[in-house]
Amino acid sequence: MIQDSVTKFFKDNYSPNPVVVRSPGRVNLIGEHTDYNLGFVLPASIEKAIYFALQLNDTDTFNIEAFLTLPEKISLDTKGNGPEFSCFWGKYFKAVIEILNEKNYALKGMDCVFGGDIPIGSGLSSSAALCCGFTLALSEMLGLNIDRTEIAKIGQEAEHRIGLNCGLMDQYAVLFGKKGNALFLDCKDLSYKYVPINLVGYSWVLINSNITHELAVGNEYNDRRQSCEAIVKKVQEKNANVASLRDVSEEAIMSVKEEVNPIDFKRALYVIKENGRVLKMIKALEKGDANEVGSTLLAGHRSMSADFEISTSEIDYLVAVSQEQEGVMGSRMMGGGFGGCTINLIKDENVDKAVEDILAAYKEKTGITSECFHLQIDDSVQILNS
Ligand code: GLA
Repeated sequence: MIQDSVTKFFKDNYSPNPVVVRSPGRVNLIGEHTDYNLGFVLPASIEKAIYFALQLNDTDTFNIEAFLTLPEKISLDTKGNGPEFSCFWGKYFKAVIEILNEKNYALKGMDCVFGGDIPIGSGLSSSAALCCGFTLALSEMLGLNIDRTEIAKIGQEAEHRIGLNCGLMDQYAVLFGKKGNALFLDCKDLSYKYVPINLVGYSWVLINSNITHELAVGNEYNDRRQSCEAIVKKVQEKNANVASLRDVSEEAIMSVKEEVNPIDFKRALYVIKENGRVLKMIKALEKGDANEVGSTLLAGHRSMSADFEISTSEIDYLVAVSQEQEGVMGSRMMGGGFGGCTINLIKDENVDKAVEDILAAYKEKTGITSECFHLQIDDSVQILNS
């Protein structure tokens, strides 16, 4: 158990009574790039997680050490300053500490060891798990009383500072997820409800393409956001009440088609239709209609690939080859794009054979070994002991 290894390592190397925090990764059933457009998303927190062991150390220094990844340690003072470091994860801790200072939360030094089993760069939001888990730990240990909504916004701000102008989907999934359910989040007013996703006779399976992409480093993600904002600006010239793509209907976007960049247009239209797919998915889940769930997944993937242009040839192949297998109802890439996992709905009786054939075909075509996980939806971030 990773939790036990992290805790033992902390006890052996630091002090005997750490607080232990579990912070989950997330999947998204559908609704990609809709969150920063104030639309709908349908994520869920999963059993794969980052575990933190932490204890106050009576100094002004955070000593933070990664366990189970490349061994690396950083030190930051309570203002977020410290010696240079090269690990990417260090930037997230530094950003969170700086943001908490700007918000006037009084911090104290701590030792912290973390490790987990969320594959990095695979579209399962390891960075949201890191930022939200660490912030929740500090809030509890220092009695800062930061509520979960505020923690989500701190996590989002940390991502923005590192370079990803993301929405709030990942942070909400980490902070408000619930075992067995997806979280239907309306990113306009941040209201949410839980939607059970179990379909009798079917399994949700993730297949990791093992193509990793650090979204915070490239411009692809932020470019998409800019395209969406450019369309909103144009529509606003005709209707000042429009605040985001959420307020733009298909008719309204058609009325500006000739006046805008065609790439921006295609991207924004994808987002508007993706919101519709989230609603369709929820109805299909409520009815237990696996055919409709599957076709909605596939429609989402096709449009992400052709219109929003965030897939890769390997992932398109993974989705296409999945569709050829008996019992696969649908498949799509998840997350910000350009790599990561696909999510698949597969009939129970076909699941083993289908997965085996998909992994083999993918290996033959791309040379890449992929892996599969059966999706297990678990609870949101929590303190395991204190
Ligand atoms: C990343 C971002 C999220 C969201 C997804 C795409 O995970 O962090 O805010 O935009 O991409 O749906």
